[in-house]
Amino acid sequence: MRKKIIVTGGCGYIGSHTVIELIENGYDVLVFDNLSNSTEVSLDRIEQITGTRPAFVQLDLSDAKETNILFKLHQDAHAVIHFAAHKAVGESVLDPLKYYQNNLYALINTLSAQRENGINKFIFSSSATVYGDPDHLPVTEESELKRASSPYGNSKKIGEEILEDLTKSDLNFSAISLRYFNPIGAHASGFIGEIPSGIPNNLMPYITQTAAGVREQLLVYGNDYPTPDGTAIRDYIHVVDLAQAHVVALKRLLEQKQESPLEVFNLGTAKGYSVLEVIHSFESVTQVQLNYKLTDRRAGDIASLYAATERTEKQLGWKAQKGIDEMMRSSWEWEQYYRSQQ
Ligand code: UFG
Repeated sequence: MRKKIIVTGGCGYIGSHTVIELIENGYDVLVFDNLSNSTEVSLDRIEQITGTRPAFVQLDLSDAKETNILFKLHQDAHAVIHFAAHKAVGESVLDPLKYYQNNLYALINTLSAQRENGINKFIFSSSATVYGDPDHLPVTEESELKRASSPYGNSKKIGEEILEDLTKSDLNFSAISLRYFNPIGAHASGFIGEIPSGIPNNLMPYITQTAAGVREQLLVYGNDYPTPDGTAIRDYIHVVDLAQAHVVALKRLLEQKQESPLEVFNLGTAKGYSVLEVIHSFESVTQVQLNYKLTDRRAGDIASLYAATERTEKQLGWKAQKGIDEMMRSSWEWEQYYRSQQ
């Protein structure tokens, strides 16, 4: 019998890539998404790629009553992978309540509905942003969590605390929190990828949109950081690698025989690239020259962040496989496909 997995936010960027990997690993997937920052086209594309259309319900998880009704209807689900959340760092600074309200209510309502209906396994989309500006690199899961630099980041940090408390209080409930570093890239088919709403904040979509002529010029924020070339360093991870890590984490949860406290894993590559290295890698892989300019630092950014991956490799038994060239190539293929469809 196929195991049924509920994926909240399954129409979004990371969610849709994970749904593909789940289907390809023989799971029966049910997507809950309110479509606030995604569309049902993702489901068409998932079907095109895998030959299977996941079941879908348009649901706003911040509505506790509706959420409970839906979970009751799907009590046969084995686990939940929870992607549904707002994720724009800058917007969260301007409108913190929107972030706390949406991200925390959705989380609490989902967990409550799960417990009420006996679905006791949970995977949480966390973020490397919970480390704030760390004292030491690379960051391990034991590194101190500094004050989050945005309400978005804080909503992830509080989310982890909620899960820690819950898994302590209810020994039947088990959860894994995955701390993503910088997910970029797209599925090898070229049919799905990131669709930023409006002007992108993140580096990769800004690069591909500049290359596509949608944006005039890429601004490189800061060239006076204490890094070899002066630009900021991040740990970029291919979204397909990230998606596959969710399947590995899910299997671990489903196979778990005894109770365990919340488990936390970094999902990164352990390798840092500077903004200029990313730009040069994009140019060399795609043979497209980018119009870019060095400018002042962006408020809230830190100099360097990259993951220690020993715990993830040893305990979860997973390691990222795809390198920066593949991240660049697939991002560019997706951008071109997406533009051709507009
Ligand atoms: N950058 C530019 N120009 C741009 C956009 C970004 O130079 O147009 C630089 C940034 O200053 C930073 C690097 O590229 O040095 C990466 O920036 P991103 O915005 O792509 O990613 P961040 O590391 O700032 O943020 C990401 C996620 C957040 C998460 C955070 C945690 O997008 O969701 O990592 O570290 F909170």
